Amino acid sequence: MRVRMTVNGRGVTEDIEPRLLLVHLLRDRLGLTGTHIGCETSYCGACTVLVDGLAVKSCAMLALQAEGADLLTIEGLATDELHPLQKSFSVCHALQCGFCTPGMILSSVALLAHNADPTDGEIRRAIDGNLCRCTGYHNIVRAVEVAAAEMRAETSQLFGSMTPPITAGGDSVTTTAEGG
Ligand code: FES
Ligand code: FES
Repeated sequence: MRVRMTVNGRGVTEDIEPRLLLVHLLRDRLGLTGTHIGCETSYCGACTVLVDGLAVKSCAMLALQAEGADLLTIEGLATDELHPLQKSFSVCHALQCGFCTPGMILSSVALLAHNADPTDGEIRRAIDGNLCRCTGYHNIVRAVEVAAAEMRAETSQLFGSMTPPITAGGDSVTTTAEGG
């Protein structure tokens, strides 16, 4: 059967067996081996990728189920520079062997996409499907907090540097919390 999807911004078309798991399509057909296989029983989270923005265990999904979807793997996360989460995991020593790291980071990307300032508990809940046998999780949680703070600062810098819109009379518009 033929399946089409977008992976890391690139259109992909593959002829596959209906039983092919998404994780095997990513690793074996597309060479995206940053998506790890730990248990292959949807327990460890090492195979986590984003499917239409949701963190998904790719060993628990058929490749055919991703038909038409937009996927992000760890290889597609960095742009010109590393993603803030990639930097913070390094700076905060949030990894040792690194086996869980791609899945941890992608689960965290999904969290920060809808919660820019998560609490310790919210971070732990977001990554509770991702097992780490090395770190004890403390530095991982810290890394997510650090990346979240950096991303909030980047956002406020971006809006702070935007020129206020000009009115028809030539005056710039200033808004207040009251909307005035
Ligand atoms: S390899 Fe998918 S959850 Fe462990
Ligand atoms: S760093 Fe080794 S499993 Fe998490």
